[in-house]
Amino acid sequence: MKVAIVLGTSNGDGNTRKLSDKIKLATDATVFDLSDYNISFYDYLHENKNDDFLPLIHELSVFDHIVFASPVYWYSMSAQLKVFFDRLSDLLTIEQNLGRKLKGKSCSVISTGFNADVPSCFFEPFKLTANYLNLIYKVDLYCCIDSEFSVLEKEVSLFVRGIA
Ligand SMILES: Cc1cc2nc3c(=O)[nH]c(=O)nc-3n(C[C@H](O)[C@H](O)[C@H](O)COP(=O)(O)O)c2cc1C
Repeated sequence: MKVAIVLGTSNGDGNTRKLSDKIKLATDATVFDLSDYNISFYDYLHENKNDDFLPLIHELSVFDHIVFASPVYWYSMSAQLKVFFDRLSDLLTIEQNLGRKLKGKSCSVISTGFNADVPSCFFEPFKLTANYLNLIYKVDLYCCIDSEFSVLEKEVSLFVRGIA
């Protein structure tokens, strides 16, 4: 199974990247850091259709499973990932054929945060969006940054089994 990790964080070398790298190691995934792409806010007039969003979706369309990776920023996904999610609307309007290529793929979410627990509202937009877009939502993993990443092997291997 070909696994892609779409990483949205303000720190390309931070906690969420470190967790992503653990999943990458375990699944041979390819990491797409949204900070490497020029993706602008959703535009009702689609005047931004030549930015990096559609080429990135083309790249992702060859993968079987997409892991969305985001820190918890104010109880929500990162702004980088939210902009990406807003742009998924392009696949329902001007790029429906490309959008169809995502249908039936599976997805999951990994996240890091300061608090011991992640608020239940955090994963809801991912689950609801996956359902709306006919993606199969498999599993999620939250890691509190207090816990040493080195002791997370059990959680990581459970997650990896969950996406298979
Ligand atoms: C703007 C901002 C908002 C944050 N909000 C939360 C929060 O609501 N809940 C939480 O547990 N941690 C919060 N944190 C802590 C981060 O989630 C945590 O440090 C995370 O591991 C950072 O990941 P990163 O290195 O990929 O940015 C916040 C951090 C920042 C910078």
